[in-house]
Amino acid sequence: MRQIFAADESLSWVRADFEAMASSASLLIFRVQSLLGQVVPLRHRSVVRRPSSAASGVLACGVEAAEATALAVEGLTLAFGGAVAFEAIDLTVQAGEIHAVIGPNGAGKSSLINAISGLYAPQSGSVRIGAARFSRVPAHRLAALGVARTFQNLALFKGLSVFENVLSGLAGAQRAGLAAQMLGLPQARREARAQRERAADVIARLDLAGVADRPVGTLPFGVQKRVELARALVARPRLLLLDEPMAGMTATEKAEMSRFIREARESLGSAIVLIEHDIGVVMRLSDRVTVLDHGRRIAHGTPAQVQANPAVIAAYLGLADEPEAEAA
Ligand SMILES: Nc1ncnc2c1ncn2[C@@H]1O[C@H](COP(=O)(O)OP(=O)(O)O)[C@@H](O)[C@H]1O
Ligand SMILES: [Mg+2]
Repeated sequence: MRQIFAADESLSWVRADFEAMASSASLLIFRVQSLLGQVVPLRHRSVVRRPSSAASGVLACGVEAAEATALAVEGLTLAFGGAVAFEAIDLTVQAGEIHAVIGPNGAGKSSLINAISGLYAPQSGSVRIGAARFSRVPAHRLAALGVARTFQNLALFKGLSVFENVLSGLAGAQRAGLAAQMLGLPQARREARAQRERAADVIARLDLAGVADRPVGTLPFGVQKRVELARALVARPRLLLLDEPMAGMTATEKAEMSRFIREARESLGSAIVLIEHDIGVVMRLSDRVTVLDHGRRIAHGTPAQVQANPAVIAAYLGLADEPEAEAA
């Protein structure tokens, strides 16, 4: 057990690199767009003063949408060398559903999200996103597939403002071609303006307007977590993957974050996969829960069903096949 945690720690560097690479790529695109199209003013106070009330959640999740399966993971298995991160995982999430994935550290939760978002290549099984089915999800097509995510360890541009970070969530969404952007053609300009308005709108919804101009790195951790959520939401994802969005937060911050997640579900009708350790939050926020332990799905169902499941209780109390403590 101790060895697994040691390996996990060293591997977090690998993951951090991955995340940094993903970030750098979108930063590059974002910077090129800003430079070529002159579309991103460094000062944008005028854009962020839209009233938050105008933006507050509209119930847009229709019955048809609620019936649709947004994500279907079937028999998914991922191993690193000989080490199995998770095995034969099934997970179905409907549009408009908040689906919590819980389990002890090292259970495979982040790896599962990384596989669903194409960072990791599973050995077997499939991931269906909307109507498209993959054995390996193409990471570069995530935006087109309507998927957005946050990372367990934040992957924000610390030196850029909140506004710029949120705007970067739309980096993959431009319709106007590069030439149109370079030439500042009307379509490209209109699109750029619409994107700034969308970023401002999300910033207002998440009560970030007061810090919109601040470099992200100067903000408290809990606020940075909210910025990352805003960056994911600005793309209006059909599927939103949140890896411990409330880690390290106070109870008040968690309650706020829960409200923002609920409002996002209500206004966008998104399917949300939520990795979360706080069982109280999971019980209050999620519609369904999947429990992983040692890379296996040990339970799934409603929060109440899962909470009463003896295997889950055992896993959480550390009674489930824990290896014997090593001699010092
Ligand atoms: N990039 C990687 N390379 C090797 N092993 C990994 C990598 N990512 C995760 N793992 C391993 O997969 C297992 C599950 O890790 P993880 O998905 O981070 O768990 P959780 O998010 O539930 O804490 C751990 O044993 C971890 O060491
Ligand atoms: Mg994790």
